[in-house]
Amino acid sequence: MQIVRNIADLRQAVANLRISGAQVALVPTMGALHAGHIALVDAARARGCQVVASIFVNPTQFGPNEDLDAYPRREAADVALLEAAGAALLWAPDVAAMYPAGFATRISVDGVSERWDGAARPGHFAGVATVVTKLLQQVKPDIALFGEKDYQQLAVIRRFVADLDIDIEIVGVPTQRDDDGVALSSRNAYLSPDERLAARALPRALGEARAAIERGDDVAPALAAAVVRLGEAGFGPIDYVALVDAATLEPVEALNAPARLLAAARLGKTRLIDNLGVEPV
Ligand code: PAF
Repeated sequence: MQIVRNIADLRQAVANLRISGAQVALVPTMGALHAGHIALVDAARARGCQVVASIFVNPTQFGPNEDLDAYPRREAADVALLEAAGAALLWAPDVAAMYPAGFATRISVDGVSERWDGAARPGHFAGVATVVTKLLQQVKPDIALFGEKDYQQLAVIRRFVADLDIDIEIVGVPTQRDDDGVALSSRNAYLSPDERLAARALPRALGEARAAIERGDDVAPALAAAVVRLGEAGFGPIDYVALVDAATLEPVEALNAPARLLAAARLGKTRLIDNLGVEPV
């Protein structure tokens, strides 16, 4: 796997990949890779694509009180995982390459960005939208793959890609989970052993709420029960547990169309998010 760190080398390397005639897929990441990221590479390769992965810990999507400095950085281990998964190219710019002096542009997405993590993390989705727009422009892939674990992020990306007529297919890949149901996340590394056990309550609470809503129970009490369950397990504060329209992410009070259960809550110092699809029966 070739590793490139400046735009000129990236463009040349992608041009070389295109000689084979295969489609080019981009898997954007912030590193600290786990099986969830590798599932994105696998999904791209299953489509016959040449895979370009990116690793860039994007400062503009971290708030002032968030964990930018502490965010895990382990490029050598990430390179080994990407190589084993069959990625062809790694784009690993530094901050100066991504945001050169004078950089002054921000992509801000109304509506779908505003609630949930958008409200809890002001500026976060503008940071994501800006860096993903740049990554798409830099690599110019045919497709780009993102995990459904960050469901609102995926919805925001789909929105601006449609709004800005960006001719790249955005592919969502289902959340990868440990055997006990906990969604894989680079942030799980921050959990103590006790917190890691308590983290099981998050997918369980969402699963119970989904089962209740799909069998016709009222939505509000099902969400309230999930909040109680999380509190009992040691989560707090709980930013939100919500049932939302699967595309607009607006809250829904009854299940008439495909919906998504979203949750975000702190366990000790670590903020965890998770989501599940909910289908009308
Ligand atoms: O999901 C992530 O890892 C990041 O938000 C992304 C999409 C790579 C943008 O920095």
